[in-house]
Amino acid sequence: MSDKTPNHELSPLKCPVNLDDVDLFSPGAQEHWYEAYDILHEQAPVHRIPGEGFMPGTDGYILTKHEDIERVVKNWDRFPPIMSVGIEELEKQDVPLEELDYNNAVPKTVSTLRPNQQLWRAHRQELTDPWVGPGAGRHEEMVRNFANQLIDNWIDNENGEVEFIGEFARPLPQMVMSTILGFPLEDLKKLEEWGNAQVMPFVYGKGHRNMLSRAQAKEQAEVLAGFTDYVRDKVTEKRANPQNDMVSDLTQITYKALDRKLTDDEIVGVVYGMVIGGLETTQYALEEEAQLLCEREGVFEQLKHDRSLVRAFTEESMRLRSPTQGLSTRLTNQDEVFQGVKVPKGSLLHLRWAAANIDADEWDCPMDLKLDRKASTRHLTFSAGPRVCPGASLSRLEQVTAWNCLLDRIDGIEYADGNQFLHQPGIMLGTVELHLKFTKAG
Ligand code: HEM
Repeated sequence: MSDKTPNHELSPLKCPVNLDDVDLFSPGAQEHWYEAYDILHEQAPVHRIPGEGFMPGTDGYILTKHEDIERVVKNWDRFPPIMSVGIEELEKQDVPLEELDYNNAVPKTVSTLRPNQQLWRAHRQELTDPWVGPGAGRHEEMVRNFANQLIDNWIDNENGEVEFIGEFARPLPQMVMSTILGFPLEDLKKLEEWGNAQVMPFVYGKGHRNMLSRAQAKEQAEVLAGFTDYVRDKVTEKRANPQNDMVSDLTQITYKALDRKLTDDEIVGVVYGMVIGGLETTQYALEEEAQLLCEREGVFEQLKHDRSLVRAFTEESMRLRSPTQGLSTRLTNQDEVFQGVKVPKGSLLHLRWAAANIDADEWDCPMDLKLDRKASTRHLTFSAGPRVCPGASLSRLEQVTAWNCLLDRIDGIEYADGNQFLHQPGIMLGTVELHLKFTKAG
């Protein structure tokens, strides 16, 4: 059983006791996810959700075992991403992509820049890796400066307390991403609004497919029209007068895989991915790390005295408290069998990264935070295989740098009074607020 912060009384759902009680997606499910994973692992590691497939008449299946999810994400042909299949379907039906009003920047970009596995890889290697992938190391000083700037704002608070999310975990990834893209920090508020609109399906969407109602989708499209206009203006500006930032670079380079420059709309699509992927995810990683440091005795001191352990700490934290708990993004291209359960061709797979990350068949004492765990990066928090998260290197850099700055400047943290530990709705694991008491380093 997990030792996550107990807050069961805040949930409209009861804590599950047997399989029939398990519900990962209704409001309040967040408060019981880890209890549900124990039940699923024991009784239904491949759990059918009747009628919840991608196409009418098909089912969804929740996968919770590490070996199954790894097998899925590493084999594109047998388990294609839903986005590519969706685009193929639309093209077959001759639906002009420009007419899609919902999040249309992304499908358009997928169809022109990375319609298949080879181009998906090229997209990552050529367009995003230099900035948020393996090339992210170049941002270290910038991340450190922002982290210290944020700490400056509260380190001398007389009560020795800080609301850690609003004052650190949320603004840091926003400032970093904005600077990488080449957007001025004065526009952060707008960026946050657009980021919130982008993640709406993952926060307010219904069921495992994160479906928005028509009204919600309309509201989202309205907010995001402002985003598209904003990025297009920046693209025009930077095409004419390139600076040292990601958007400028995208206006100048030749995409070798297709031997041509990118269009303005394609750049909007790439930027969309950076904003939707790069803000809340890292915010929740930082916030859950702070909680683990409050809960696991002695870890803060260990890290403070041996900084070589910080990376292992962030990996273990992301394993134990995966920010993105699960996504329904793969289909079965043929009949399959997982853990002896038949899953027919055309089923939609909900990959529950967070459950795979505490699967006792994969991890020794899975709920322990072990700073000496072997191959600790084999967790599936960022997925794996050809569609692995392209921003994983940047997020890791942000987390390690942030904790090194925090460890330099404080001698200890604990929970302050006034925490409710209420998780935000949706598919991400993260509390809405986190009040911490800290001791300033002497
Ligand atoms: C702790 C932080 C993060 C977590 C937990 C996370 C997790 C994930 C996961 C699970 C996926 C789905 C992969 C799949 O379906 O196989 C993904 C995709 C993605 N992530 Fe991240 N991510 C994080 C940070 C970032 C950052 C910092 C960026 C941008 C700078 C980013 C950009 C993206 C994009 C654009 C995709 C879609 C990739 C595609 O469609 O090919 N992520 N991420």
